[in-house]
Amino acid sequence: MISDQSKNYFSFYNSFKYEYFKFFYGKRFDKFFELIKYGTIPRPNYALGILMAAHQAKELDYKKISIIELGCWNFEGLIDIENYIHDIKKFIDIDFNVYGFELGTGHIKEETNPRNRLYELSGGDYTFKKKDNLKKLQFSELVLGDVKDTVPKFLEEGHLDEAPLGFIIFDLGFYTSAKNALQLLNSDSKRYLPRSIIYSDNNYFVLKNEADKAAFSEFNKEGGKMISPIGELAEQLSVSWNKWIFLGKRMYMLSDLKHEKYNINYEQKINKLINSSFSVTLKR
Ligand SMILES: C[S@@+](CC[C@H](N)C(=O)[O-])C[C@H]1O[C@@H](n2cnc3c(N)ncnc32)[C@H](O)[C@@H]1O
Repeated sequence: MISDQSKNYFSFYNSFKYEYFKFFYGKRFDKFFELIKYGTIPRPNYALGILMAAHQAKELDYKKISIIELGCWNFEGLIDIENYIHDIKKFIDIDFNVYGFELGTGHIKEETNPRNRLYELSGGDYTFKKKDNLKKLQFSELVLGDVKDTVPKFLEEGHLDEAPLGFIIFDLGFYTSAKNALQLLNSDSKRYLPRSIIYSDNNYFVLKNEADKAAFSEFNKEGGKMISPIGELAEQLSVSWNKWIFLGKRMYMLSDLKHEKYNINYEQKINKLINSSFSVTLKR
């Protein structure tokens, strides 16, 4: 089921194409990827993150991965995530744990750090309202409270030991919250894929010393794993659908060079589906 919020971005023609895919081509990786590439389905950025993570994990022989959304507002992102997992499981045999971290009362009111962009955002923005959405969730687990408290507890409980992090969405708004949530990426290598996928929604008009960007750059300065942009992802995808020119720049990989599976070679199916001449070069 697609969320009500996403349905606002789903034209009749595109929803027909999605139904057509499900009926005739539901088991085909390449056909699902086309829906992402051409921006046919809503939140193609979420679908891409889940697909990239599932593909990498399957190739590296993981049985289960975790998908995390940080900041869920009315839980419509989680509804869409569950929907795309349902699609992807038809052609990639892998299991998922899904977690949504949410405070419920919108951005924290007491925060005054200038990196939080208070000139645009305010405490209390995005308070949870659409209560009925909770009934639409089928298997996501909600982690309720301030990430400052819930993230350390979540790590302590060892959830990522059972299913390493495949894809994480940062949509908390404030720098302070993103900074606290980043502890999630700082744990033992075994709790991640060699290159877990990250999406940061916080980009439009965001300066380098603010919000997720500032928190990510501080994380990278600590050494260890690196949050890296993905070379040419936005540009190559934008040849097929122009909005990828900015959506693609919100996607990163958590590169963990010390990961025991970093060097394992496998077919880079998604690269090839984005740019078919990539494989032609290899064949020469
Ligand atoms: C922009 S909204 C998320 C929108 C959602 N991802 C979507 O696509 O519909 C930001 C959310 O982050 C939550 N939030 C902000 N600071 C938080 C914190 N420190 N801990 C947990 N949740 C927080 C807010 O309550 C709000 O619901």
